[in-house]
Amino acid sequence: MVNGVSHPVVCKPFDTLLTVLREDLGYFGTKFGCGIGYCGACTVLIDGKSAHSCCLIATTMSDRKISTIESCDDDPVIQKIQDQFLKEGAIQCGYCIPGIVMTVRGLIEESGQRVITEEILRGHLDGNICRCSGYASIVRASLKACVDE
Ligand code: FES
Ligand code: FES
Repeated sequence: MVNGVSHPVVCKPFDTLLTVLREDLGYFGTKFGCGIGYCGACTVLIDGKSAHSCCLIATTMSDRKISTIESCDDDPVIQKIQDQFLKEGAIQCGYCIPGIVMTVRGLIEESGQRVITEEILRGHLDGNICRCSGYASIVRASLKACVDE
């Protein structure tokens, strides 16, 4: 189930979730960076928790609810995060941003009523790399989105 839609997919036994999302289903907002769980460009939500889709075998995902950055149209929380990124100018080439937005979305989901501090946020973003190195504005925008929740 991707973004609320069930997608029957025939894939190879060791195709990753990232491969299926991009190549079979056309969700190109989810990016390929390192392919080894290091950069976070491929981050999606699985049952509300952020995960690196390049490290997951697609055939293990048959009963899971997956959200990609394309779910933003139906998710006001993602829209709020995106608004803060725009306000803070936290986007350079943009390649890492969908993964970062989904990581922040997952943090907000997991935190419930718990206050998200900068320390918690930075810890959570540890698995997301921005090669344009715009970390200061990314953290600022993400924190504003978390506090605003
Ligand atoms: S492409 Fe998945 S973590 Fe880098
Ligand atoms: S904005 Fe370019 S990689 Fe992060």
